[in-house]
Amino acid sequence: MRKKILAGNWKMNLNNYEANNLAKEILVNSQKKEKIDIVLIPSYIYLSNVVSLCVNRPDIFVGSQDCSAYASGAYTSEVSANMLRNIGVKYVLLGHSERRSYSFETNEKILQKIHQVINNKMNVIFCCGESIDHRNENKHFDWIEKQIKETIFYLSAEEIKNVIIAYEPIWAIGTGNTATSSQAQEMHAFIRNLIKSKYGEFIAKSISILYGGSCNPSNAHDLFSKNDIDGGLIGGASLKSDDFIQILASFK
Ligand code: 13P
Repeated sequence: MRKKILAGNWKMNLNNYEANNLAKEILVNSQKKEKIDIVLIPSYIYLSNVVSLCVNRPDIFVGSQDCSAYASGAYTSEVSANMLRNIGVKYVLLGHSERRSYSFETNEKILQKIHQVINNKMNVIFCCGESIDHRNENKHFDWIEKQIKETIFYLSAEEIKNVIIAYEPIWAIGTGNTATSSQAQEMHAFIRNLIKSKYGEFIAKSISILYGGSCNPSNAHDLFSKNDIDGGLIGGASLKSDDFIQILASFK
């Protein structure tokens, strides 16, 4: 069956010393659990270090927060998927609402990046999520469907196996307003059905769908106990090893 995954998106936080310590504390305080993978997603400049710290833990993977839409060449400051793969990165986070809003990333651009990651044999953590206005206007299902149809639906059945979906309602990110477990379950079931309509039941049942948005030690168990919620993509609470480890203990 599908994997349970706990991913920590460290965003643009922590200095070198703190990033090192956080990774070490997570390594020491987490035991390898069957069927749960951990993905640590630090800033680019800490990736190599975190990869080398995790080398003896087959259940802990390192992910990047972004990658270039291009394979290589004159793209100053950009980091290619191939470079990431080369240093041992296994996951790339794409479509995060902060990239969509602050860096104006479109579904088209995100799809280019998805192809780069898949071509380089890494996994994509694809984020989708609606604004509060979309939800209030009851347009949230249409919005998520559009985000999915314009990106990962262009992948073949073979390629989609390398995708993990993260549902992150924008109104829940960093706000303390977590989606209720029934709101999250409702959307996760909708997403799984969409995947089923395009790729069939077997793939729909195998794809992991994570929840993100103010997930913390007090609400994680409730969220993770829902049928279609396969884990979490954690922001703020992933920066404190105690919180992250408690969230890890919340899987049913
Ligand atoms: P918070 O957990 O801080 O709400 O962030 C969620 C997120 O954006 C993870 O990618």
